[in-house]
Amino acid sequence: MSNTKYRSEITGVGSFVPPKVYTNFDLEKMMETTNDWIVQRTGIEQRHWVDDNVSNSDLAFEASVRAIKNAGLERSDIDMIIFATLSPDHEFPGTGCFLQAKLELPEIAVLDIRQQCTGFLYGLSIADKFIQSGSNKNILVVGSEVHSKGLDKTPNGRNVAVLFGDGAGAVVVSRKELVNPATDSRIITTHLHADGSFAKELWIPAPGTALGADRINNEMIAEGMHYPQMNGKTVFVHATKRMAECLVSACKEANVTFTDVDLFLFHQANLRINSKVAEMLSIPEEKIFNTIQNYGNTTAATIPLGMDDAIKAGVLKKGMLVASAAFGSGFTWASAVWRY
Ligand code: ACO
Repeated sequence: MSNTKYRSEITGVGSFVPPKVYTNFDLEKMMETTNDWIVQRTGIEQRHWVDDNVSNSDLAFEASVRAIKNAGLERSDIDMIIFATLSPDHEFPGTGCFLQAKLELPEIAVLDIRQQCTGFLYGLSIADKFIQSGSNKNILVVGSEVHSKGLDKTPNGRNVAVLFGDGAGAVVVSRKELVNPATDSRIITTHLHADGSFAKELWIPAPGTALGADRINNEMIAEGMHYPQMNGKTVFVHATKRMAECLVSACKEANVTFTDVDLFLFHQANLRINSKVAEMLSIPEEKIFNTIQNYGNTTAATIPLGMDDAIKAGVLKKGMLVASAAFGSGFTWASAVWRY
């Protein structure tokens, strides 16, 4: 049962991207693409990709250490990890367990969630519920991806490979006493949705137990079934519609208007998706903080990575009202309104 005397405050934010940058011009040499094609259709100018010896949990570790430090906490203060990714270290266990070991945390609960681009907002919502119930004090919510090792970087995969980058973002959600609901820093509302009838519009088919005895075999690999498959036009149409819809419902539930919102921190799949959402809802573009130019689509990491960059740039300041929305594979979509 919810306990209304608590609020969930984002007390620390951190991020990490691997140092090596690949510009669109670098990709021109790999996969018969052009800088113009990528910039015009997506807004992406560069992305960071890991070296071979770096894993997802390595990126997550760096982002988490920064988030915990920025929250003014010790690692031992964290009492739960919620980890969102679609590019795990290994098939199982969840990457949150590998992160917990790297952080040398005691036997706290670790929960991995598989909601792709929407994963961070799903994680934030779950953290909010655990905090408000009174059961937890400081939950680490992480979104982290290593896409670069799972992309077809030949001309065959160029429609997808140019879109994705590696990176991690983390926040600490802390339990505080609710004093003034109108002005307290807190997660005000979260809205989570999915429609599995579109699952195969954006997915990685193999390996999978739905594929017969092998899960994966040489024929599947030859067909590229272990690489992401995307129907880009369908994703575009649904992303704009669903992000707009769930922003409207979150702001309504929070009893705020788009004018009241100081900053919009959207998932970073494509600059054109975010511009379209802004146009549909008459949101001034300057209120949207985009980072896709620098990182590409880092899926579960885009929102916490954007938060951290916005804080560092002085764009996101304590007390501001923020609205977030995301859309991704599943299809899944989600929104949140929160006061930083
Ligand atoms: N470089 C050069 N040419 C390319 C590339 C590339 N990287 N990729 C595809 N093309 C070519 C195609 O072969 C095609 O050529 P043709 O006309 O000779 O057949 C042409 O460009 C147009 O291809 P389309 O796939 O129709 O391109 P479209 O205009 O739909 O743009 C894009 C593709 C950018 C992916 C678009 O569909 C889109 O924005 N979709 C949204 C999906 C998205 O952003 N997904 C991100 C992940 S999901 C998420 O996070 C929500």
